[in-house]
Amino acid sequence: MKAFVVDKYKKKGPLRLRDMPDPEIGADDVLVRIDAAAINLLDSKIRDGEFKLFLPYRPPFIPGHDLAGTVIRTGANVRQFKAGDEVYARPRDGRAGTFAERIAVNAADLALKPTSLSMEEAASIPLVGLTAWQALVELGKVKPGQKVFIQAGSGGVGTFAIQLAKHLGATVATTTSAANAELVRSLGADVVIDYRTQDFEQLLSGYDLVLHSQDAKALAKSLNVLKPGGKLISISGPPDIGFARSLGMNPVLRLVVRMLSRGTVKKAKRLGVDYSFLFMRADGGQLAEIAKLIDAGAIRAVVDKVFPFAQTADALAYVETGRAKGKVVVQGL
Ligand SMILES: NC(=O)c1ccc[n+]([C@@H]2O[C@H](COP(=O)([O-])OP(=O)(O)OC[C@H]3O[C@@H](n4cnc5c(N)ncnc54)[C@H](OP(=O)(O)O)[C@@H]3O)[C@@H](O)[C@H]2O)c1
Repeated sequence: MKAFVVDKYKKKGPLRLRDMPDPEIGADDVLVRIDAAAINLLDSKIRDGEFKLFLPYRPPFIPGHDLAGTVIRTGANVRQFKAGDEVYARPRDGRAGTFAERIAVNAADLALKPTSLSMEEAASIPLVGLTAWQALVELGKVKPGQKVFIQAGSGGVGTFAIQLAKHLGATVATTTSAANAELVRSLGADVVIDYRTQDFEQLLSGYDLVLHSQDAKALAKSLNVLKPGGKLISISGPPDIGFARSLGMNPVLRLVVRMLSRGTVKKAKRLGVDYSFLFMRADGGQLAEIAKLIDAGAIRAVVDKVFPFAQTADALAYVETGRAKGKVVVQGL
């Protein structure tokens, strides 16, 4: 089958179109024809070698972490899907590979796609939808009336997280540049801060939850906008000891990870707030819940651009500019 491949780890290295062996499906897997795939910065970071330590893909490998597609065949143990079903997924870590014609996905990572969305729209959801769900529902336990600050509201994660936080009944503040203010307001943001001219630390206080996705400076400032008992959840780091444990890291690596987040954890403790790092995980059950919300009209897909399959590398480069408004999607072959 045709696929875009990373031949070797390299910063800004190329994606090359080549023929790769067809995926083999195990008893718990579903073989899916990929009708659309979305781009994530995780794909760039993996290609650059940043995640080699805990996500050791051996080149040549196919990146890509989001798909919408059609079931071709199911493994012997799979009961919940059948050939012809329209599905969507973020395949689990170690099994990326959606920049291809076909992929074998563990059935537990898969859900029926929202019926109200096109394949391109559905492909835009899984990774960012699961990230927002795991941050706001699972870890954050957001309740009606709470104040939630979502950084980069116009990005892939932000556009979904604003809508989910509103659905959960929160008041939502977000940062974006002036050009995207209208977009984030249309998604439900109550307070919109232009990060180029305004300082969120000066404007926000008494927040219950901050979803941090930017740099270390924004992380330090985020601590100061929370109320005591509030939660700082970062998806851009530093990783914390809980993350190290969940990956089963050895004691030496755990110590390294502990040191990385030591300053933030200490300061959080002093302020009476909680710091945690989230690395999202695949979860077909949560995707089924998300599909219900989408089909009920509570959340919409925000797709910036759709590229043809042959331009997958251009789509990745576009996302790497950091200017995407919502998600960037590649059509299947
Ligand atoms: N840990 C996890 O599980 C996990 C999961 C998903 C994503 N992530 C990470 O989270 C980060 C965000 O991901 P994403 O996919 O949402 O990114 P993205 O879609 O590429 O974000 C692009 C958006 O960010 C906005 N932006 C850029 N600089 C900003 C700033 N300083 N303040 C506020 N907004 C800014 C841009 O708006 P303007 O054009 O208006 O500047 C643009 O709309 C990435 O580092 C990604 O790797 C982690």
